[in-house]
Amino acid sequence: MENIEFIEFCGLDRWKDAVENTGKYEGWILADEDLDRWREGFGEGNYNLLVAIEKKTNKTVGHVATAFYESIEGSDPLLTIGMFFVLPEFRGIGLGWKLFEKVVQNPKFHGINWGLNAIPKMTKKYATKFGFDKYPKWQISTFEAAIKDINPERLQSNHLIKNVSFKEVNFESFIKYDTVMTGGIRRDKFMEKWLDSKNAFSKIALNLENKKIVGVCNIRIAFQKQLAIGPFYAETKSIAENLLKDVLKIIPDINQYSKLWLYPATTNQEAKEIFYNLADGKIQEYNVSFGQFTKHVIEVNTSKIYSVTEHAMSYC
Ligand SMILES: CC(C)(COP(=O)(O)OP(=O)(O)OC[C@H]1O[C@@H](n2cnc3c(N)ncnc32)[C@H](O)[C@@H]1OP(=O)(O)O)[C@@H](O)C(=O)NCCC(=O)NCCS
Repeated sequence: MENIEFIEFCGLDRWKDAVENTGKYEGWILADEDLDRWREGFGEGNYNLLVAIEKKTNKTVGHVATAFYESIEGSDPLLTIGMFFVLPEFRGIGLGWKLFEKVVQNPKFHGINWGLNAIPKMTKKYATKFGFDKYPKWQISTFEAAIKDINPERLQSNHLIKNVSFKEVNFESFIKYDTVMTGGIRRDKFMEKWLDSKNAFSKIALNLENKKIVGVCNIRIAFQKQLAIGPFYAETKSIAENLLKDVLKIIPDINQYSKLWLYPATTNQEAKEIFYNLADGKIQEYNVSFGQFTKHVIEVNTSKIYSVTEHAMSYC
């Protein structure tokens, strides 16, 4: 371990290593642009990418990250921990826990709720070692479809709904909608960065009659030309289907991409039905991941969660 140096608040060069390593070894689907989405979205000092570097080679050998969701207008703050990874040849010598212990040390994290998403193998360890023992009744599913197997025309349109761009909606109304979906946690700037972003495609669903926001769907380009869906929230299955269809249709030359990923709540069967239909049944299902918290579960309406925002720093 004397051979290892730790650096906080790392920048894009180390982030790119993280995207590459987690993609290559674990199949995680992240984008080079995600770092700025988080750094700018959570605000100065609120996103910390802590990296372990092998001194003699300057190689990135491990990392972990924290996102601090500040209190906005009295909302509860939240700390999420993600991007926890160590290169296979450096595992099992205590480097992982060392990274984890270091990154959560900031005094502003004391006394607030912490959350993370765990793979099945790790979930009990986080509960016993760090107190992440409050579990929601649902987990996050992972579905994959090959782009060559999908056809947006298999999805139904809904003529009572108009899908518009993020810029066309009133920002405050969107944040109100988003805050209901997140169970009260605010992430105003992050949502702006995530949705109004290069290399991502999004639409917001409006009810034509009363102009209310009834859904959002974002698809971003990630590691090795894969497309990851999230957030994808909708009031009904029909709204979800219509939204996904429209977002897929605005992606230029979609056949240049390899795969499409969806991360719905395990309790949302309709999400699976839509995805199954889109890919004519040719979908792959992977292990679920476990959302878990230290103080209390953040309650959300999972029947409306067709895909969580992403796996690393988001719980819904
Ligand atoms: C999880 C991970 C970061 C731990 O890193 P590490 O440097 O091996 O961590 P440590 O040596 O501090 O050990 C941490 C725990 O992981 C266990 N562990 C270490 N290597 C392991 C391996 N190859 N397989 C399974 N568990 C392992 C250790 O036994 C220890 O658990 P314990 O405290 O109950 O004994 C690393 O195994 C990894 O990158 N895994 C792949 C990515 C991943 O799954 N990340 C977590 C997502 S929730």
